[in-house]
Amino acid sequence: MHPVLKTMKKLLTIFSILFFVVACTKVVMPVATENDAKRASEKWPNTTLADLTQGKSLYEQHCAGCHKLYKPDSHNEAQWNKIVPPMANKAKIDSEKENLILKYLVTMSASRN
Ligand code: HEC
Repeated sequence: MHPVLKTMKKLLTIFSILFFVVACTKVVMPVATENDAKRASEKWPNTTLADLTQGKSLYEQHCAGCHKLYKPDSHNEAQWNKIVPPMANKAKIDSEKENLILKYLVTMSASRN
């Protein structure tokens, strides 16, 4: 085989593997539903689906800078209550955003338990 072709083939293999690895490790966060909002509002009155959806996007926006995003069901409610405040500090977000993120994570963690 022509050496240039050989190199091309090697590169193609490397890129395919890289693509596969990236595609497989992308963590998809669960999307909140009306049912989740109902459960959430039993704990925090007047919590809406929009709040949970906003919490999800704030989480994705502010918490992925230093490490991978942890799935909501990776920790339970007590753990999230302990983890989120210092992490919100690290992420330099205000308490309103922190609360929305916490509600999203706690609600969606319980949906799996
Ligand atoms: C400035 C960097 C930074 C940002 C931004 C950040 N984190 Fe972290 N996070 C860390 C570091 C460093 C660790 C590991 C050491 C530790 O636990 O303090 C960590 C660990 C964690 C863990 C694992 C803790 C455990 O004990 O299992 C979770 C969950 C987590 N972060 C959630 C979040 C959330 C939620 C946000 C957004 C509000 C966030 N992080 C934003 C730096 C960051």
